[in-house]
Amino acid sequence: MNSLKNRPPSNGELSRSVLPCLIALLVFLGIALFWQGTGWTQDAQVNSCVECHSDIAEENQGSIHAQQGISCQDCHGGDPSQKDKDAAKAPGTGYIGIPDKKQIVQVCGTCHADVEKMNFYGIRTDQLARYKTSLHGKKLLQEGDTHVAACSDCHGYHNILRVTDPNSPAYPLNVPKTCNRCHGNEKLMGSYQLPSDIFRIYEGSVHGKALFEKKDISVAQCASCHGSHGAIPPGVKQVGNACGKCHLNEYKYFSESVHAKLSEGAKFSECVSCHGNHGVSHPAPALYAQACALCHEPQSPEFQLGHRLEDLIATAQKDLSGSEELAKEAAIEGYFVEQETASLEQMKTIVLEMGPLQHTLDEAKISDRSQKVHDLAKEVADKIDAKRKNKLIRKYSLIPIWIFILVMVVSLWAKFKELKKGLDGSGSEHDRH
Ligand code: HEC
Ligand code: HEC
Ligand code: HEC
Ligand code: HEC
Ligand code: HEC
Ligand code: HEC
Ligand code: HEC
Ligand code: HEC
Ligand code: HEC
Repeated sequence: MNSLKNRPPSNGELSRSVLPCLIALLVFLGIALFWQGTGWTQDAQVNSCVECHSDIAEENQGSIHAQQGISCQDCHGGDPSQKDKDAAKAPGTGYIGIPDKKQIVQVCGTCHADVEKMNFYGIRTDQLARYKTSLHGKKLLQEGDTHVAACSDCHGYHNILRVTDPNSPAYPLNVPKTCNRCHGNEKLMGSYQLPSDIFRIYEGSVHGKALFEKKDISVAQCASCHGSHGAIPPGVKQVGNACGKCHLNEYKYFSESVHAKLSEGAKFSECVSCHGNHGVSHPAPALYAQACALCHEPQSPEFQLGHRLEDLIATAQKDLSGSEELAKEAAIEGYFVEQETASLEQMKTIVLEMGPLQHTLDEAKISDRSQKVHDLAKEVADKIDAKRKNKLIRKYSLIPIWIFILVMVVSLWAKFKELKKGLDGSGSEHDRH
């Protein structure tokens, strides 16, 4: 390049014809260098693999890899410039045929674990490293167990899509089904003494319902609690972190409770001890007494505390729903209830706040909120009561007026009759004349 640049132009004509060639050469070199940098071959015109395997080439077409010019030989090896089948797969071409599970992980890793190659795309490169720490990865790579999940079991292989594509098996809505292909297989899971009904239980949980019915992809699915590449059951110490990623306040308040220290000693499985894992349901105050009974004797002060907490929370919820009912009735009866609505909003805020706060198990704090709600409920009831009494008084105060009007009407009627009688009497007298 240097010699080209330094070569003195012999005359103007020559320099005019050399310059475009030089630019073309530089552009070509740039492109060539770029593809060399990405590490995979870009030879779309002659690719014998594609020509012979047109069915797979078609399957591969819409994939994220095909869009990036990645082709058969980047995963399978071989020489795509050879027309002959045997030459294309001859020893020395790196041809591996159909990769087995261990090879698949390595093949995907040649690009996805290579920071330099993936740098251009700005996506993470820790999938393989994390996979090695997962139970799936350990079983496959250390023990050669091929029943566990490898990259292609969760992503597919010829038709790999972006994980944000709703058709990707790794898209949040599809993850539970993807895991369930193996974790719902009774025979397979039975051989590991693992349950095969996790999907069914999950489907009925608050999380599952929100995911499948509301299509809420912010909700917990298998990979949000277990991790995707590092999929392992969170240990008793990490469960709270897993749930706490999304339930920040509950986690914060739980950390203030007596049990938080116990989880550090692995005696208490943070959230799961009370809520369960796959079947997390919408909690009711009764859960307190139930949950405490799991570990504390019914006569113990701990159990009694649970009972009192249940009462406090249930009372606040009853107060709120009672007041809401009352205000609704009053509105139907035709009263203006703006003031009461403001109090109701205040009550709702406190009851909502109690949800996470109760995880402190701090009776004083919870009792304080419950009392506030109770006072507001009384206020609402008193105000509506006063309005009803007021209306009654106004209603009754009309009675004398009605009586007065009635008396007036009756006496006017009597007067009219009397006058009419008088007139009729004189009329008949006239006739007789
Ligand atoms: C001339 C046609 C031809 C070319 C070129 C060709 N293949 Fe094949 N390939 C076949 C046929 C036919 C089979 C199935 C018969 C067999 O097992 O050999 C096959 C089988 C395969 C298999 C499955 C192997 C197995 O163990 O079952 C893979 C993977 C494969 N080809 C990849 C490639 C790749 C990658 C290239 C390009 C480097 C390529 N092929 C080039 C014809 C071709
Ligand atoms: C991103 C990597 C990747 C690319 C690109 C790729 N393959 Fe594959 N291919 C795989 C993996 C992984 C398997 C094995 C899947 C399994 O059996 O679990 C496979 C399986 C196959 C098989 C066995 C039959 C089957 O469908 O399972 C053939 C044949 C094959 N590939 C040919 C091709 C050809 C031809 C191309 C190019 C058009 C291609 N592959 C592109 C990864 C790739
Ligand atoms: C048990 C299922 C599972 C396995 C096994 C798995 N993945 Fe994933 N992968 C996912 C899920 C789910 C996501 C999306 C959520 C996320 O990013 O964690 C994902 C995301 C990705 C992404 C998008 C970028 C990113 O990290 O967010 C890439 C790339 C990827 N996986 C590559 C791989 C490779 C390479 C392997 C094998 C070493 C692999 N995956 C193994 C489930 C899996
Ligand atoms: C030759 C290099 C190469 C190989 C081999 C390879 N990939 Fe990729 N992969 C890429 C590139 C490049 C992208 C595109 C990144 C982008 O555009 O953000 C990609 C994208 C992906 C994505 C989508 C990431 C996202 O942003 O959602 C997934 C998932 C993925 N690959 C999984 C795999 C799996 C599984 C294998 C093995 C079967 C594999 N890849 C093999 C280079 C490779
Ligand atoms: C290809 C089948 C397959 C797929 C797909 C799969 N797994 Fe697994 N998984 C297994 C097998 C088999 C085991 C049992 C390994 C053992 O215990 O030795 C396992 C073990 C586990 C464990 C550890 C269980 C324990 O305590 O022993 C967790 C957690 C797990 N998988 C989560 C997931 C999640 C989450 C997904 C989906 C993102 C998933 N798996 C997808 C096959 C699969
Ligand atoms: C809300 C969080 C959460 C979700 C969602 C979740 N898990 Fe779990 N899973 C856990 C926890 C926590 C454990 C650990 C068990 C324990 O300590 O009680 C566990 C345990 C497991 C185990 C080990 C066997 C067992 O039951 O102890 C497997 C396998 C598993 N989960 C797979 C899945 C699959 C598949 C999905 C999706 C259908 C899923 N999990 C969804 C939190 C979750
Ligand atoms: C990825 C985020 C995420 C993770 C992780 C998560 N959750 Fe949730 N959770 C949600 C969302 C969002 C909702 C609201 C669902 C709805 O719309 O009904 C919810 C709802 C709940 C509810 C019901 C609340 C109610 O008022 O009905 C409970 C209880 C719950 N989660 C407990 C847990 C536990 C325990 C864990 C850990 C084992 C956990 N969650 C992990 C996001 C998450
Ligand atoms: C000692 C038992 C216990 C533990 C431990 C526990 N919870 Fe709760 N949780 C409850 C009870 C009981 C309720 C419901 C009371 C009610 O009906 O208001 C509840 C309510 C909830 C709610 C709904 C709150 C709302 O605003 O209505 C969520 C979400 C929740 N818990 C998440 C968690 C998370 C996350 C953890 C772990 C950091 C956790 N819980 C630990 C007993 C527990
Ligand atoms: C998974 C088991 C488990 C559950 C469920 C559980 N606890 Fe505990 N709790 C413990 C253990 C273990 C201790 C420590 C006992 C000890 O140190 O003697 C403890 C200690 C306590 C203490 C402190 C006692 C002291 O002497 O300092 C209180 C208060 C308490 N629990 C209340 C509750 C309440 C209220 C509930 C129900 C909402 C509940 N616990 C549910 C296991 C549990």
